Amino acid sequence: MKLVIFPTLLAVILFYSMPNAALAAATFNVLSFGAKADGHTDSAKAFTSAWAKACALAQPASIVVPQGRFLLGSVTFGGQCANKAISFEIQGTLVAPSDYSKDNWLMFEHVDGVSILGGVLDGQGTSLWNCKNSGKGSCPSGATTLQFSNSKNIFISGLSSLNSQLFHIVINGCQNVKVQGVTVTAAGNSPNTDGIHVQGSSDVTILSSKIRTGDDCISIGPGTTNLWIENIACGPGHGISIGSLGKEQKEAGVQNVTVKTVTFTGTQNGVRIKSWGRPSTGFVRHVIFQDAIMVNAQNPILIDQNYCPDNEGCPGQASGVKISDVTYKNIHGTSATEVAVNFDCSPKNPCIGIKLEDVKLTYKNQVAQASCVHADGATLGSVQPDSCL
Ligand SMILES: *[C@@H]1O[C@H](CO)[C@@H](O)[C@H](O)[C@H]1NC(C)=O
Repeated sequence: MKLVIFPTLLAVILFYSMPNAALAAATFNVLSFGAKADGHTDSAKAFTSAWAKACALAQPASIVVPQGRFLLGSVTFGGQCANKAISFEIQGTLVAPSDYSKDNWLMFEHVDGVSILGGVLDGQGTSLWNCKNSGKGSCPSGATTLQFSNSKNIFISGLSSLNSQLFHIVINGCQNVKVQGVTVTAAGNSPNTDGIHVQGSSDVTILSSKIRTGDDCISIGPGTTNLWIENIACGPGHGISIGSLGKEQKEAGVQNVTVKTVTFTGTQNGVRIKSWGRPSTGFVRHVIFQDAIMVNAQNPILIDQNYCPDNEGCPGQASGVKISDVTYKNIHGTSATEVAVNFDCSPKNPCIGIKLEDVKLTYKNQVAQASCVHADGATLGSVQPDSCL
């Protein structure tokens, strides 16, 4: 008798002493909603049905995607959920259709408390890139692989994004987002395949990720505040870029950005701030780039405020974007071009408060050059090439 009662009692005690653990997450396996792991049956409906169940529940829920390849058309995972803790646990691969007809492939809108754990997202972008790279024109624009829009409390961990048609991951209009241990892979010549793009968002953290792609590893758009980026391997790619900014006349600024411990390997740029050469209310302030290693980056340290592709829409106009308080600290390595430090600021709004501290960049084992136009600031510690501030 005792032997029977004791475990029951123990279970009861555990249940009441660990309320969170006891409330095990409800689990929804996409296979039970009709998903097929065969790589060619469209499983979008099964995913949206599983999502609808999880969304309606007022307790934590997991949507489980087992191993295998799941073809999915464009899916929007919508909001107003009763649930504030839905996690996708993905062991398999989600495969995009290659008809490129939508702007977004996997879209989360107005959600709160969503996690994506693991998984591979295969954007199937190669034939679209080939079309774009052929220069013949009339190619579809393609889809962003994964977007979170107007959402909060988002966690993305251990996800791999492969061959996106356009941007891999977009964080737009969100609060409190953590991205960690993500791998982005696309060809070095794939057009507009930014790794992670953040805009209009606050309190976003991007940690311990490897990004190899054809455009910016991480791009930071207007209205980004309190962004922390740390421990990133970038390359091939165009580096980490704040911008392009100032395309719009009325535009929100970028404020409080930390970029720390990044290796740039064979990238077009290292750390860049870029704005259109046209009027704008935008600004960039309180930014620190620190502990970066450049391995043959073409433009390791760059501010370009005269961006104007095809010289259209900005004739003779200076950038309205005001850049201030930008620190470059402990940045070492090699530049693939002679000008390793290039501050090309706006004649109307010179860059102010630019700080270089412990910077050493060389070009072909020799002294590199620095160039400053409308840039003002100071140096600390040892700085090579000789500062032009
Ligand atoms: C700047 O952002 C970080 C997170 O990246 C945050 O911890 C810090 O409080 C912010 N600083 C200010 C002054 O808002």
